Amino acid sequence: MYLTREEEQILNGEAGNTLRQAIEILVTLGDIYGAERLIPIKSAQIAGVSYKTIGDAGLEWISDLQNKVKVPAILNPAGMDLKDWDKLGISPDFAEKQKSIVQAYEKLGVICECTCTPYTLEGFEVCYGDHLAWSESSAVSYVNSVIGARTNREGGPSALSAALIGKTANYGFHLDKNRIPEVSVDVECPLQESDYGALGYVAGKIIQNKVPVFHLRCVPKADELKALGAAMAASGSVAIYHIEGVTPEICRLDFKEPEEKITIERYQLDEIYESRRKTCKEPELITIGCPHCSSAELKRVAELLVGKTVSKELWIFTSREIAKRYPDYIRIIEKSGAKVICDTCMVVSPATDSYSSVMVNSGKAFSYIPGMCSAEVVYGNMEDCIEEALGRTEKKAGDSH
Ligand code: F3S
Repeated sequence: MYLTREEEQILNGEAGNTLRQAIEILVTLGDIYGAERLIPIKSAQIAGVSYKTIGDAGLEWISDLQNKVKVPAILNPAGMDLKDWDKLGISPDFAEKQKSIVQAYEKLGVICECTCTPYTLEGFEVCYGDHLAWSESSAVSYVNSVIGARTNREGGPSALSAALIGKTANYGFHLDKNRIPEVSVDVECPLQESDYGALGYVAGKIIQNKVPVFHLRCVPKADELKALGAAMAASGSVAIYHIEGVTPEICRLDFKEPEEKITIERYQLDEIYESRRKTCKEPELITIGCPHCSSAELKRVAELLVGKTVSKELWIFTSREIAKRYPDYIRIIEKSGAKVICDTCMVVSPATDSYSSVMVNSGKAFSYIPGMCSAEVVYGNMEDCIEEALGRTEKKAGDSH
């Protein structure tokens, strides 16, 4: 891999140990994946923030790093709400460790807003064609597909290394040739709202890590695109997708319709919703906000809860900035007895681990909760989730088995 004189000096340790380690990680990845050089990035988004996922070894590694990041860098969700951490019964020991992790990132100059939807934040905008080093899989999918920026699915250490150097190795989804559709997906039914998460869950399992181009019978909204990409990145490892007539890059790419074709039909999506009927347990906890709720989603939750009282635990996850911008929605939601939680999520927080059955409206959470939280999971749309929390959904006799 070609390195400039300055990069060679960093690799030789002339700029200190932290930057030597960081560039070593980038060069190693570049060599493995055949990159010719390092390229500048506009921003980084760093996963590996929750103490639940990185533990003491991760905390130690981050704490040992010196230097400041060279480009704007932001964090993925942590293991708890950083302000109201006892709201979900997090232990003081966990809270102490989690705070130390965030402080260690802060020392490096990382923006300590912990969210998986940083592209919605003011001052952290992403534009078409920007090169990035982002690691949260749903955010990677969104910026690659919906915005047309360019990032690989970085690990936490490689995203942080890229932020410290201000560059990443030029391979994978930074190159045109790897963004070309490889499989065509024809969806034979109209879709709305949580259907997109179900579609992503089904499609990701079939497509795995290929680049799909979808042919849909309807035009999705931004939140539906977010849900589709998040689910595909979790049940498969899709990092970029295209939708004919919708996503920005499809008309600019020079490609032929892929030979590999799959068709997805309504009954395949219905099977995901059927999880509600197949489970033996009633959901004990209902969660909304994977990926973190947008302002439109928060508004919808508030409309569905206004003047009502929940009878089950209902947790709504969003970014702190979105929560700050819409205090009226927060007030309505919290008045119902539901909890609005920032900086974390139902998957990376240990709080979910004490529930044995969880209801979600997210294909990504549906994919991850059984393995990461050891709980049964059922799927429904946002309205079903709210109804369940209000105690209005009755499972019909004979449904469970
Ligand atoms: Fe975000 Fe957590 Fe889902 S990081 S995408 S809310 S699993």
